[in-house]
Amino acid sequence: VIDDLRLRTKGVYARKGLNPMYVNQIVDFLETYADRCHQGKEENILFRALAVKGPNAALVKAMDDLEAQHQDTRATTRKLVAANAAYAAGVTGADEQVKTLLEQVADHYLSHVRQEDRDFYAPAMEYFTPNEGGEMLAEFRNHDRAMIHEKYRLMADALEADR
Ligand SMILES: [Fe+2]
Repeated sequence: VIDDLRLRTKGVYARKGLNPMYVNQIVDFLETYADRCHQGKEENILFRALAVKGPNAALVKAMDDLEAQHQDTRATTRKLVAANAAYAAGVTGADEQVKTLLEQVADHYLSHVRQEDRDFYAPAMEYFTPNEGGEMLAEFRNHDRAMIHEKYRLMADALEADR
């Protein structure tokens, strides 16, 4: 999804342009996959379990950096939702604002994932026994299983509230 986003904002497909429906799909990806699924598993399961182990200063700093980046992504997503509403309403300049925010999302997402892969996961997992690692994987799976139900329960609630 992020590769597609880069192609549409910067690459040869930029001529296709963007539209509010496409941006809605990106917002859904950011809210559901990037935030609830990926960041939710890290913050609610991995980071908490690691904090209990008393990790070294470098890992604590890496964890704080990653969490701050999660907050930034949430803030950018909120701005994107507002800019996209203006874009859909035909507000002048909103399309450029949407494009700038989408470029920001793509750049931040890729550097975030690189940082996690390079500086975080391997040293973090050294604090856990194979058994604990297995238990954490099971927790990850439970987290993901619950998500789909949560997503559509929230949708049903929102629809009901809007009747
Ligand atoms: Fe993350």
